[in-house]
Amino acid sequence: MEIRLAKTAGFCFGVKRAVDAVYEQVEKRRKRLEAGEAHVPEIYTFGPIIHNEEVVKDLEKKGVGVLHTEEDLDRLDDGIVIIRSHGVGKQIYDKLEEKGIPYVDTTCPFVKKIHNIVKTESDNGKYIIIIGNKEHPEVKGIKGWAKDRVSVIESEEEAKAFTLENSLSEAENGNKICIVSQTTFNYNKFKYLVEILLKTRYDISVLNTICNATKERQIEASRIAAEVDAMIVIGDKHSSNTQKLFEICEKACKNTYYIQTLDDLNMNQLQLKSVEAVGITAGASTPNNIIEEVQNNVRLNF
Ligand code: F3S
Repeated sequence: MEIRLAKTAGFCFGVKRAVDAVYEQVEKRRKRLEAGEAHVPEIYTFGPIIHNEEVVKDLEKKGVGVLHTEEDLDRLDDGIVIIRSHGVGKQIYDKLEEKGIPYVDTTCPFVKKIHNIVKTESDNGKYIIIIGNKEHPEVKGIKGWAKDRVSVIESEEEAKAFTLENSLSEAENGNKICIVSQTTFNYNKFKYLVEILLKTRYDISVLNTICNATKERQIEASRIAAEVDAMIVIGDKHSSNTQKLFEICEKACKNTYYIQTLDDLNMNQLQLKSVEAVGITAGASTPNNIIEEVQNNVRLNF
């Protein structure tokens, strides 16, 4: 029995950095409490640090709270806020500073780069188009670095319907557009939507800001799935990148299973007798200990 674990399985660089930062703050707080400091502020993440129930529950047990909305932040008078890898809009930084609340910024540097591009180009008068999912927190955050002239485009229909409300003059760069992408957007779809937008008469600059971590994970998962008899994809049921990974693996290997933790793994389903090789991959928000647990269990039971 051969187990093929994807090298790209689990946390990407940006997520690992963010999760490590929260545990670091938990540890610092513990030491301060132990030292008997009179006032040790509570820790909050702005949104769940990652899409993984296990990790979020573990942090909750360690006393880390979650601020879900801007209103939650409005109500906060004391604490340390951790900004997750998805990043946030400028207004959140402004609010934190206004309220004098200390924060730890774990925005992924690849996302920060998009914030900087959007801010600069928007300040220069350009219209900003973000290719991505409107509801995704990363996209909401990116949008928060543009002035008012900004659109989010996700579908062919939206790209075809796009027209620029010409509110600025030529001299103010009013007809110029800058296109960026959500880091986890599908490259082929991004290219297709950009091609549609380039057919307009506008002066458009395109910056492909898709992060390679997602693409590399998907390519490796698809390659492994095509070479094994059964494939296991580990990740939270709400994680969109894990769902995507599952779809990709299922195309290459009919025997693909989507599990959240070891408990979901029903070994009988894996058609033990006919299985010679099992592949394992995991979404960007799956911690290493869960991947290892699954891997060890598969090894022991085959
Ligand atoms: Fe950053 Fe790419 Fe991960 S943008 S958070 S390294 S998917």
